[in-house]
Amino acid sequence: MESSAREWSLDSWRGRTVHQSPTWPDLDHLARVERELAAKPPLVFAGEARRLQQHLSDVANRRAFLLQAGDCAESFEEASANAIRDKLKVILQMAVALTYAAGVPVIKVGRIAGQFAKPRSEDFEERDGVRLASFRGHIVNSDEFTESARRPDPERLLAAYHQSVATLNLLRAFTTGGFAALSRVHTWNQEFVASSPEGQRYAVVADEIERALAFMRACGIDLHDDAALQGVDFYTSHEALILPYEQALTRQDSLTGEWYDCSAHLLWIGDRTRQLDGAHVEFLRGVANPVGLKVGPTTTADELRRLADVLNPDNAPGRLTLISRMGVSRISDLLPPLVTALRDDGRHVVWACDPMHGNTFRVGGGQKTRHFDDVLAETARFFAVHESLGTWPGGLHIELTGGDVTECLGGGARLNEEDLELNYTTICDPRLNATQSLDLAFHVAEFLQSYGTGATSL
Ligand code: PEP
Ligand code: CO
Repeated sequence: MESSAREWSLDSWRGRTVHQSPTWPDLDHLARVERELAAKPPLVFAGEARRLQQHLSDVANRRAFLLQAGDCAESFEEASANAIRDKLKVILQMAVALTYAAGVPVIKVGRIAGQFAKPRSEDFEERDGVRLASFRGHIVNSDEFTESARRPDPERLLAAYHQSVATLNLLRAFTTGGFAALSRVHTWNQEFVASSPEGQRYAVVADEIERALAFMRACGIDLHDDAALQGVDFYTSHEALILPYEQALTRQDSLTGEWYDCSAHLLWIGDRTRQLDGAHVEFLRGVANPVGLKVGPTTTADELRRLADVLNPDNAPGRLTLISRMGVSRISDLLPPLVTALRDDGRHVVWACDPMHGNTFRVGGGQKTRHFDDVLAETARFFAVHESLGTWPGGLHIELTGGDVTECLGGGARLNEEDLELNYTTICDPRLNATQSLDLAFHVAEFLQSYGTGATSL
C-alpha cells in the first residue's frame, strides 16, 4: 500500500526507521521532557501556517518569490536581541532589493526560532586521536569537544523551546511594532554594510523608496493606515529533525480538526532524512503546515514523484517547496530531469535554490567554507534551468547572518583564505555575511528581472 493511504497518527513515525537520531542515553528522561513540552503553549498558530501556505501558492503560481534565510544552526550562546535584529535587518534589505528591482512580492521566511538540530555525515568526530560523538546542534548536545558536552541531553529540547519563544517574541515585536515599517528602510543598512558598494547601491534604492513615500504622503494618502507599509509578514522555519520535539509541539486545530506542527510555520525534511519509508517523511505527511524537502544530487525523478505523492497527495499549490541543493558543478545536469518530471505531471510545487549545501569545502583540511562565486553561479544556473523549461524559479534558500563574519570566501570584500580566521563564529556551516547576502540579492533581482528574456542562460 502507498504510504499516503495508510492511517497517520501523531506517533506513527515511531514505527519507522528514524535516520540521524541522536542516541539518547536515558529514554525515560526524554519521555518526561516530551510530556512537559506537550503541555506548553504553541509557538505559532494554525491560521498563520495557512496564511504562509497561501503566500507560497502565489509563489507556485509565479506571482511571488520566496526568500528563506538564516543560520545554519542557531546557537544557545548567541541569542542576543542585537544578533536577532541584525539578521532581520539583512533579510529585510534583501527583500527590498528583490522587490524593488524585480517588482515581485517577496515571502520572508527565517531559518530562525527553532533551527537548532543538525544532521551529520559522520557519527563521530576525531581530533588529535580523541574520538567523540559528533555535534548535532544545541537542541541535542554542545559543540564543545569533551565527552560530557557531546552527550545528548533531553533538557536541551526545553532550552530550545524557550529560546525559540524568546526569539519569536522579539521577531513579532520587530516586524509589527514599527521597526519593519517601510519608512525605516534606511535604518536597516548597518554601518559596515553602508560603506560597501552593495550598501551604497542599497542606499540609492532606499532613497527612491523614501521619495515615493513622500510623494504619496503629499498626495494625501495616509500611509499609517496601510498595514503593508507599517510592518511585514515574517515566518519561521527549521529542519524537522528531532521528531520527539516536533511531535510534542503538534496540536489539533480547533477550526479545521487538522494537525499542525506549531514549532514553526514551515518545516523541512533534510537531504539525509528524505527516505520514502523513513520516520521524517511519515511525520510530516500528516501535519498540515507547508512543508519543504531538500533535493540533493542522489534524488531520482521517480523518487521525487513518490515523495510528492506522499507529502502532497492533493497537489495543493504552496504545500510543497522543493529546495534544490545540487552544487554548482552538477545542477545543470541533475536538476532539469527532476523539474521536467514534475512539470509534465502537472504538479504544483515551489522550486527554491539552496546554493550553499552543495558547495562546501575545507581549506587546508581545516575550516569549512564556501565561495561566493560558487553560490552565485549555482543560483544563476538554477534560474537558467527554469528559464529553459518554462518553470518558475520560485525562491532562494541561504545561510546568512547579520554580522560582519568571515566564513565564506569572495564577495565584494574579496575575502580570502587568510581572512577566514578574522571573525569565524558559526557553530556549523559557513554563512554569508550581511554584505555578501545583499550582493547576492542584487544579483538575484537581476536574474528575476531578466527571467523570460533568455538573459540568465549561461
Ligand atoms: C541545512 O539546511 O542546514 C542542511 C543540513 O541541509 P541539507 O539537508 O540539504 O544537507
Ligand atoms: Co547548513
